[in-house]
Amino acid sequence: MFLVTGATGNVGAELVRALAESGERVRAVSRSGQAEGSPAGVEAVAGDLNRPETVRDALDGVRGLFLMPGYGGQRQILADARAAGVERVVLLSGRSAGTDDRDNAVAGYLIDAEDAVRASGLRWTSLRCTSFMSNALQLADQIREGDTVRVPFPDARTADVDPYDIARAALAALLSDDHADRVLELTGPQALLPADRVRILGEVLGRDLRTVGLSHDEARTELEAQMPKPYVDAFFGFFVDGTLDESVVLPTVEQVTGRPPRTFAQWARAHTDAF
Ligand SMILES: NC(=O)c1ccc[n+]([C@@H]2O[C@H](COP(=O)([O-])OP(=O)(O)OC[C@H]3O[C@@H](n4cnc5c(N)ncnc54)[C@H](OP(=O)(O)O)[C@@H]3O)[C@@H](O)[C@H]2O)c1
Repeated sequence: MFLVTGATGNVGAELVRALAESGERVRAVSRSGQAEGSPAGVEAVAGDLNRPETVRDALDGVRGLFLMPGYGGQRQILADARAAGVERVVLLSGRSAGTDDRDNAVAGYLIDAEDAVRASGLRWTSLRCTSFMSNALQLADQIREGDTVRVPFPDARTADVDPYDIARAALAALLSDDHADRVLELTGPQALLPADRVRILGEVLGRDLRTVGLSHDEARTELEAQMPKPYVDAFFGFFVDGTLDESVVLPTVEQVTGRPPRTFAQWARAHTDAF
């Protein structure tokens, strides 16, 4: 039995599917406990990662745990996992965990999460991912409304990774000890600018989309309406001050999964319904 947290999210839903297709039993945790869209046989349960007592029973009989980073209950959940006989934990992390910059709010919570899995006594694997291709879903409302797409950080070139590939790497790390006690740095196959992704989305959707880059002031105003200021500062640190280079393309996905990482065009073709 495998326990997948964040099970209705971009990565978790792909992992639930991948485990089920591999014939594994899966328990899928989210706060909603939503089962809709899960493959047959998947056990959907409600649990809150900020309240470890709501997750404890779901650890019963589990061999491997896929853990979302940064929730208040993570150390207790890991202690409960060890007590329940869980063997392996695979953590969803990000490239900024490698910066050691605890003053950056995003890097800080990822570094804490990595510290927690390393101290857990379980065999662990940390998936340090670049930005996710699914971040393009944030453009969906604009694309439904018109052909002009306003993007923050227009000069930030990033090798975004498809959550499908993150899930395939998680699957490999959950099913064997080949990747135990290691960090896997996962990137997509191409470093693209936001305008490149908008162009590719336009090609896939048969639309003539035009990108307008937001100024830093405009981006700050828009982002502060969506998330707490320390996180906005964190993204300015990465993409404006250049504390994180996400343009690097690494071979890890292919090494771990045996298949080349998916391109942004492949991601877009699989998600046309969202636009
Ligand atoms: N986006 C990026 O570029 C990027 C890059 C590197 C790392 N990351 C990491 O990836 C994570 C997001 O992954 P994702 O995109 O796959 O997720 P997502 O699509 O945002 O979905 C979040 C999932 O977690 C569940 N969830 C949220 N709060 C919860 C709670 N308190 N207790 C239990 N479950 C909870 C949600 O379901 P309910 O709402 O029903 O609970 C949902 O299943 C973030 O933690 C981020 O640090 C993201």
